Amino acid sequence: MLIKPMVRNSICLNSHPKGCAAVVEQQIAYVKRHLSAGAGTPKLALVIGCSTGYGLASRIAAGFGYGAATIGVSFEKPASVIKSGTPGYYNNMAFERAAAHGGLVAKTLDGDAFSNEMKVAVVDAVKEVAGTAGIPAKIDLVVYSLASPVRTDPRDGVMYRSVIKPIGAVYSGKTLDVMTGRFSVASTEPASVDEIAATVKVMGGEDWELWIDALDKAGVLSLAVRTVAYTYIGPELSWAIYKNGTIGRAKEDLERASNAINARLAINGGAAWVSVNKAVVTRASAVIPIIPFYVACLFKVMKEKGIHEGCIEQITRLYKDRLYVAGGIVPLDDARRIRLDDWEMRNDVQAAVIARMEGVTDETVFIATDIAGFKHDFLEVHGFDVSGVDYDADIDPSTI
Ligand SMILES: NC(=O)c1ccc[n+]([C@@H]2O[C@H](COP(=O)([O-])OP(=O)(O)OC[C@H]3O[C@@H](n4cnc5c(N)ncnc54)[C@H](O)[C@@H]3O)[C@@H](O)[C@H]2O)c1
Repeated sequence: MLIKPMVRNSICLNSHPKGCAAVVEQQIAYVKRHLSAGAGTPKLALVIGCSTGYGLASRIAAGFGYGAATIGVSFEKPASVIKSGTPGYYNNMAFERAAAHGGLVAKTLDGDAFSNEMKVAVVDAVKEVAGTAGIPAKIDLVVYSLASPVRTDPRDGVMYRSVIKPIGAVYSGKTLDVMTGRFSVASTEPASVDEIAATVKVMGGEDWELWIDALDKAGVLSLAVRTVAYTYIGPELSWAIYKNGTIGRAKEDLERASNAINARLAINGGAAWVSVNKAVVTRASAVIPIIPFYVACLFKVMKEKGIHEGCIEQITRLYKDRLYVAGGIVPLDDARRIRLDDWEMRNDVQAAVIARMEGVTDETVFIATDIAGFKHDFLEVHGFDVSGVDYDADIDPSTI
């Protein structure tokens, strides 16, 4: 069949297997050029949320940058002979194919990371993977990179749904349809108390703590294990909907969990951090009010200044200049966070972005902003608009 992008209301409904695989290959090539194993780099890494975005980049960098055996956990929909799978389904397939080809040990588990069953399955996988790789059955890097709309708490079976809403007042923001270049104003009602609590349940730190607890009790963490989870802060103009909204509350809880996990692991020489990453385009990026407009301006400015990064460049910098920096001291901010958003938040970058956002009109949107770059990244995340891929070729959607 032919697979062309089907985008409805800023959501892309399908994906292209060969395009997804090509992007994974590009990321592998990037980390091979920029990372190499050394003292203290991980030998066995677990990535929870491994199939797309920051988690995929984290797995690729650990595996192909440092030669680590990797276990990946994700929740993806497989393809059938008539319908494409989710991008992460193809990304996992491409990762495993390249790992097998490159002599790396890799195991991917597909299912609900929030469940107790998945935690048990990962403990079993650690033993299996370590046996195959001929290394101790001890994880030395745990990356927690889940982004999910729902979570069922395994302790009581209650399902919680996260929302992206402001707290206390209606939020109205200018938003940009990246497929058409049209501006509109999006308004969002404030969250209820229950919605705030549910978002914290889904996107906060509780499940990360449950993971570390399960792995620690099973004896599969190395003494010097390092664990990191990702967050975003962003510019003040987005705070009403992001940092000071429901998702920001969840991220505050993630930071609470980081400190609690760190206190637990530090006893034996391990550590936990939250890393504040920069804004990138992932599957849901186009639906949050103000974010596409901000990101289209941010990309324009960062590209002009020669400091633009996507997931793989960010994670390469996370490993090389932060987690596994020569000398071993991880650079942190005053709140004990890793800052990979340092270039995004630079004063000159933010001033230039705000000037662009204020000056842009319907007529100048295609030249004053990098809407083209946003659209490209959005399509690329789904395996479309990837150079070298023949989109007119008849393909079998069940394989890469
Ligand atoms: N996208 C950004 O601009 C950005 C910026 C800074 C920080 N972050 C943070 O990085 C983290 C990852 O975000 P992303 O944008 O890379 O997300 P993403 O949507 O690309 O990836 C999410 C991953 O979680 C997995 N997943 C979701 N629900 C699951 C479940 N129940 N069980 C198992 N796996 C499940 C998916 O399969 C996928 O692998 C999030 O915490 C996010 O807040 C994102």
